[in-house]
Order: sequence, then structure tokens, then C-alpha cells
Amino acid sequence: MPYTLNVNGKSVTADVPADMPLLWVLRDVLDLRGTKFGCGLGQCGACTVHLRGNAVRSCQTTVAAAAGGAITTIEGLSPDGTHPLQRAWEELDVPQCGYCQAGQIMSAAALLRRNPRPTDADIDLAMSGNLCRCATYTRIREAIHKAAGNNVTATTAEVIR
Ligand code: FES
Ligand code: FES
Repeated sequence: MPYTLNVNGKSVTADVPADMPLLWVLRDVLDLRGTKFGCGLGQCGACTVHLRGNAVRSCQTTVAAAAGGAITTIEGLSPDGTHPLQRAWEELDVPQCGYCQAGQIMSAAALLRRNPRPTDADIDLAMSGNLCRCATYTRIREAIHKAAGNNVTATTAEVIR
């Protein structure tokens, strides 16, 4: 049946089964490919988007559950890629292969919305579900601190997963 979704501030319609994962709808129906498929099991965070202001795994969220709620993907985080996290990511050259990074930024953005000045521990907890095979964790933490305006460097602690 057709579902009306609010994606990045626009109302769109997707005529798909109720149990289709939001990730499929974003990538294959709406052609928003910034959100990545990693594990498909809710365990890697590559597919993270915001639903009603919270970070969710779009591979584990059905289109029926997402209908009616504001959905934000990496494409809609800022109109021109100048969200403080995006600027910090660029300035600190965070990505390696880049595959996990949209999900990382979306989780970080949800963190900063609820906690604008996170500690190392806050960051590690909030980001623990976002895996990076290239092990960019130290730079990710530093970039989140930079975006938050914290005077802390990533060398304060090791990030081990
Ligand atoms: S693809 Fe959704 S958590 Fe891995
Ligand atoms: S940058 Fe390669 S998986 Fe994270």
C-alpha cells in the first residue's frame, strides 16, 4: 500500500509492503544512497538515520513504523554539507574508505542534539553501535569534540573495540 513519508523535509510516497525496511525504501525507491547497507541485522550502524529526532537503524525499521514521522538522512542533515559535524569530519579528515561514515555522522548528530557537550564516555557510549572496519574511532571522537566546541583532543584516550 502507499505510505506517505516525510524525508528530509519533503513529503514522498512509497507504494511498498508494510514490512519493507526503511533502508530499502530510502535507497531503492527514493534513490537516497548516502545511507548504507552493512549487516542488515541492526549490528553495524551503517544504515543509521533519524526518525522523530532519534538515531535508528533503518534496516530494522519498517516503512509502516516510519510513516508519519520526520525522517532525516545524511543528505538532509544540512542543506549544503556544512553541519558542524560535517565540517569537523572534513577538517580532521576522518573517513578512510568512508563506507560507515554517514551512519557515524547521523549517530553523532543525534548525540549532540540531546547532549551538546559530550564527554569521551558519552561519545563512546553513543557511538558504540557504529562499527568502522577502518578503525577511524579516534578521529571520530575528536571530530565530535570539535563540532561540540570541546577543548579536548582524541589523544586523551585510546578507543578500543
Ligand atoms: S545495516 Fe543496519 S545496522 Fe548494519
Ligand atoms: S571508514 Fe571504512 S568502514 Fe569506516
